[in-house]
Amino acid sequence: MKNIILIGFMGSGKSTVGKFIANKNNMKQIDTDWYIERKHNRKISEIFETDGEETFRQMETDCIKELLKNSDKKYIVSVGGGLPMREENRELLHKLGTIVYLKAEISTLEKRLSGDKKRPLLQGGELHDKIASLMEKRESVYEELADIIVQTDNKSFEDIETEIKKGTEL
Ligand code: S3P
Repeated sequence: MKNIILIGFMGSGKSTVGKFIANKNNMKQIDTDWYIERKHNRKISEIFETDGEETFRQMETDCIKELLKNSDKKYIVSVGGGLPMREENRELLHKLGTIVYLKAEISTLEKRLSGDKKRPLLQGGELHDKIASLMEKRESVYEELADIIVQTDNKSFEDIETEIKKGTEL
C-alpha cells in the first residue's frame, strides 16, 4: 500500500485531516512542519527569521528525502503549503505516494487563517491579498501535481475521508 500525501495551501486542513484519517485508519501521520521543528528544535518562524526562507526550503527537501528512505510503512504525510513549489520536491513526492490536493476557496482560507501568528509568509499587510497572490502562483502547481483533488469547503472530515478513499488505496 502506498503512503498518502496531503498537499494544499496553508489553512486547507492538511494537518487536521491527516490526523483524523490517521486515527481512524490506524495509520501513522507525519507533518513536514512538525518534523522539521522537532529535528532542528526550532520553530519555523524562527528558522525563517534567522536563516531565511531558502534554508527552510532545503530542510523541507531533506525531510522528504529522509521519509523516502523509510517507506516500508503506510503513512499519511501532510506537507507544508510551499513544499510542492520546488520541482525536485514534486518528483520526490510522486515517489513517496499518492498525492491528494485539499483544495479550498480563498474566502475559506481567509477565515481559517485570520489572526494566525505562526506563518511567516502571512504576517503584515492585508491577509486576503497575501493569500490571493500566493495562490495565483501555487494553484496550478498543486493541481498538476495531484493524483486526486478534493474540494474541502463546507465538508466534514468524514466527507473528505470518503472522497480520499474513493481516489486512493486508503
Ligand atoms: C508555508 C506553509 C506552512 C509552513 C511555512 C511556509 C508556505 O505550512 O511550512 O510557514 O510556504 O505555504 P502549512 O501549509 O502547514 O501551514
